[in-house]
Amino acid sequence: MVDRLADKVIVITGAGSGIGAHTATICAQAGAAVVCADVDLAAAERTVASLAESGARSLAVQVDVSNASAADAMAATALEAFGKIDGLFANAGITGEGSVTSVSLADWNRVIAVNLSGVFLSCRAVLPSMVAAESGAIVATSSIGGLVGVPNIAAYAAAKGGVTGLVRQMAVDYAPSGVRVNAICPGTIPTPLVVSAYKQRDYIAGGVDEAFARAASRFPLGRVGTLDDAALLTLYLLSDESGWMTGQSLAVDGGVSTAGWQVGQ
Ligand code: NAI
Repeated sequence: MVDRLADKVIVITGAGSGIGAHTATICAQAGAAVVCADVDLAAAERTVASLAESGARSLAVQVDVSNASAADAMAATALEAFGKIDGLFANAGITGEGSVTSVSLADWNRVIAVNLSGVFLSCRAVLPSMVAAESGAIVATSSIGGLVGVPNIAAYAAAKGGVTGLVRQMAVDYAPSGVRVNAICPGTIPTPLVVSAYKQRDYIAGGVDEAFARAASRFPLGRVGTLDDAALLTLYLLSDESGWMTGQSLAVDGGVSTAGWQVGQ
């Protein structure tokens, strides 16, 4: 894995936990300097501490991605520390339970603010330096909920579907400037976010392991995802290996978006 991101500077939002934290590790192992941004500064600092053990250059930054000036400050801090931004993994996100008739307007607005506007604001913050450099790779985290109908997540699905549309749109706008924009659409990967969603769905009565075992049985490939499944696709999309790909939203989901989502999953 060494050198796939050699000399690159990668900014990762939601780097304090789950998919973002693991992708930070994978990017550092691939040779990148990593800016670990999260609303939870202590969590981002834990990720940075674990990267430092292997000698990687990294920096923790506190950001609420739904806040425009905080997103701008994140990019400015990265540029000040490392002089350039080669890649952005716009990954920070929160759960969003409820149908259109049950979700409150406040919950709807918060999920859209973090999961969709947060991607917009993070991209807007890093794009000027990428455009000036005529080079850059952005990866956003959508979801299979952005590709197929998943029950009872109206705000989350709207935000993630919005991310896939935004990725297509930005790909077209910034291709002439040498900037590529793609999205990953993961299926269920055990992280604190999914445990929180399962709790809200009453899906976890028999315990976390039992809930994930039940979920696994509904994926055509017979298991839920791993952090590597999401991080290694992201690594590919951030690296020059995917240099002729832009505007794509790629499912990494054990085949479930092809076979169809089942109620309860
Ligand atoms: P996680 O809960 O482990 O990590 C999310 C991180 O985002 C946390 O460190 C949290 O502090 C941070 N965060 C939350 N709100 C933020 C904000 N306003 N500004 C900055 N940071 C913020 O969750 P996970 O699973 O790693 O999720 C990462 C992304 O993957 C999210 O966008 C999620 O929607 C998406 N996703 C996750 C799937 C899964 O099964 N785990 C499936 C599909 C998509």
